[in-house]
Amino acid sequence: MPSSNQIIFFDTTLRDGEQSPGCTMHHAEKLRIAHQLATLGVDIIEAGFPIASRGDFESVRAIATEIRGPRIASLARAKREDIEAAARAVEPALRPRIHTFLSTSDLHLAAKLRISREQAIDQIAEMVAFARTFVDDVEFSPEDATRTDPEFLLKVCEVAIQAGATTLNLPDTVGYCLPHDYAAMFRTVLERVPGAKDIVLSAHCHDDLGLAVANSLAAIEAGVRQVECSINGIGERAGNAALEELAAILMVRKDKLPYENGIVMDELFRTSQMLTDCISFGAAPNKAIVGANAFAHASGIHQHGVLANPLTYEILTPASVGYHGQHIVLGKHSGRRALEHRLSELGHKLTKPELDQVYTRFTELADRKKAIYDQDIVALLHASRSQANTLQSEAVTA
Ligand code: KIV
Ligand code: ZN
Repeated sequence: MPSSNQIIFFDTTLRDGEQSPGCTMHHAEKLRIAHQLATLGVDIIEAGFPIASRGDFESVRAIATEIRGPRIASLARAKREDIEAAARAVEPALRPRIHTFLSTSDLHLAAKLRISREQAIDQIAEMVAFARTFVDDVEFSPEDATRTDPEFLLKVCEVAIQAGATTLNLPDTVGYCLPHDYAAMFRTVLERVPGAKDIVLSAHCHDDLGLAVANSLAAIEAGVRQVECSINGIGERAGNAALEELAAILMVRKDKLPYENGIVMDELFRTSQMLTDCISFGAAPNKAIVGANAFAHASGIHQHGVLANPLTYEILTPASVGYHGQHIVLGKHSGRRALEHRLSELGHKLTKPELDQVYTRFTELADRKKAIYDQDIVALLHASRSQANTLQSEAVTA
């Protein structure tokens, strides 16, 4: 059991993330990401869905064999053959977990599974107990929990706990829930389900309405101690809660969110970049924490402020999440201060008249060109200096 304020980071980049369009990874890529997730300090790596394919099985098994540190979880529908495959795949892990799930909303029961509520209850009891015959650590998820009849959901939770679930994950599978409703669901479970206080409750949120991170935080405040998330927020449809955002919020707003976790913050940017190398798209430029613009300042007023004191427009330092690139971006909105600062970083000290001349040339160029690079401003400086030299020698000759 975690201490009462310790948040468990359950990373599903290699499972929910990997099963979304454009995110499939080869065996070697999955292993590379798994090693980096261990370095990042996640508590649990959900390594894949072994029944889905031979390749998935082999990757989960290789991760379970090689990775030491995080627990390794393996996903299984609440079916014997899935659970057996999941158990075989995680067998080499020091701390294996089987994560089994069954839909519980009436919509899913009727349209997808074609079983009654009673049959679902029996299946959950039987399959959670079956999973426990392989491992001590079993997570159960009632899929589509947030659209499940609330009273029936309480019954499902009770049965899963009685059958031996050690973690109970209540997913917002379709990203439909609002933060206060999601929190209320967990509070009710804690109040009314026997044994709920003795196991770990978990949040698993999808971002269909852009609420995955807000919902996960609301769940934490309601007593949840495991959050399921992924790097860059990849996952089914609009994705899962972004790990880097949750970790950054818990760091920056510790005043309001007094929780501990094991994430190594300055590994976040590297992890995000590594994932981008392995899949077919990167984080959007304006993505919080790891987007290319997350720490970029382009307007003159902001650049002036940040150069005087970064706290004026930065609530966390780029270095704290492992970003060491340029964050003053030169463009048509930049002022003299930013230009002078960048040229001085590049080793050029300018006199006041020189700066005026280079700045005039710079604004002309910035009107024509979207991105201004270091070589552009150095070329402007050289052009300006050589024009000044020519004028000076003409004056001497005259
Ligand atoms: O979104 C979901 O419901 C899932 C489950 C398998 C936990 O990914
Ligand atoms: Zn999911």
